[in-house]
Amino acid sequence: MQNIIDGKAFATELKEKVAAYVKTLKLDHDITPGLAVVIVGDDPASHVYVRSKGKQTIEVGMKSVEHRLEVDTTEKHLLELIKSLNSDNTIHGILVQLPLPDHLNEDLIINSINPSKDVDGFHISNVGLLATGQKAMVPCTPLGCLKLLLNYYDGNLSGLTAVVVGRSNIVGKPMAQLLLSKSCTVTIAHSRTKNLKDVTAQADIVVAAVGRPGMISGDWIKKGATVIDVGINRVQSEDGKSKIVGDVDFLSVSEVAGALTPVPGGVGPMTISCLLANTAIACARINGLGDPDKLAY
Ligand code: GUN
Repeated sequence: MQNIIDGKAFATELKEKVAAYVKTLKLDHDITPGLAVVIVGDDPASHVYVRSKGKQTIEVGMKSVEHRLEVDTTEKHLLELIKSLNSDNTIHGILVQLPLPDHLNEDLIINSINPSKDVDGFHISNVGLLATGQKAMVPCTPLGCLKLLLNYYDGNLSGLTAVVVGRSNIVGKPMAQLLLSKSCTVTIAHSRTKNLKDVTAQADIVVAAVGRPGMISGDWIKKGATVIDVGINRVQSEDGKSKIVGDVDFLSVSEVAGALTPVPGGVGPMTISCLLANTAIACARINGLGDPDKLAY
């Protein structure tokens, strides 16, 4: 194994760039970017993510607002909250933590966010803009994966074959669009793909986003390929404690891959740094300032 891709270090660098940009926004324009995070219900893992997002938002000098709503919150109430955040001039990014409780229509809620403030990039307008190669808000996890790949390949992914395993709207589909926009030859594989192992074994780049602990093992990977592990799976370890593992079987894949992201410390930290970058970008665009150079991909 040649290279472990240090997502944590790269995410720290990106966060520092965001903090520097936030400083110039304040000094030159008297603007402080604001991010509102909305969480409905009491899923413990979601609350951990939301706390971390709030903490890091403050660390880069932005305003952080959290709305914690009861699990039985009505759709009407949530839509009214989003409407008020849409028209709040101190808020430039709105994130509704998913999944939402079953009685809430996720599409309806997401599509009620002002697309300019949709720092998750899940609004149908942003999905369409990304798919057609126009300026969009780009979903944070695939954006983080792309940034790691561009860094590893010195900015040039042209002509590489990439297999994305997973077809979610949050990761798989936007990841495929981003790789396509960088001129990769892209395959989206999923749980129904026949001979999945043979498909991944052809690829120069494999992005694993299936949510199945350790599913992708070394014999699925071409020698020297780059493997990006998006999985965050909580499993029981031998000593009875729980630990977080990816979708990739790290040991066997590390013997064949040319480069691999670890879990934890790979894609995870990049997701939050990209959320901060997206909030800074949204703030700049809303204020007619143009995109901050150093945060573009
Ligand atoms: N739940 C899991 N990942 C995400 C994400 O990237 N954004 C939101 N809003 N919810 C999530």
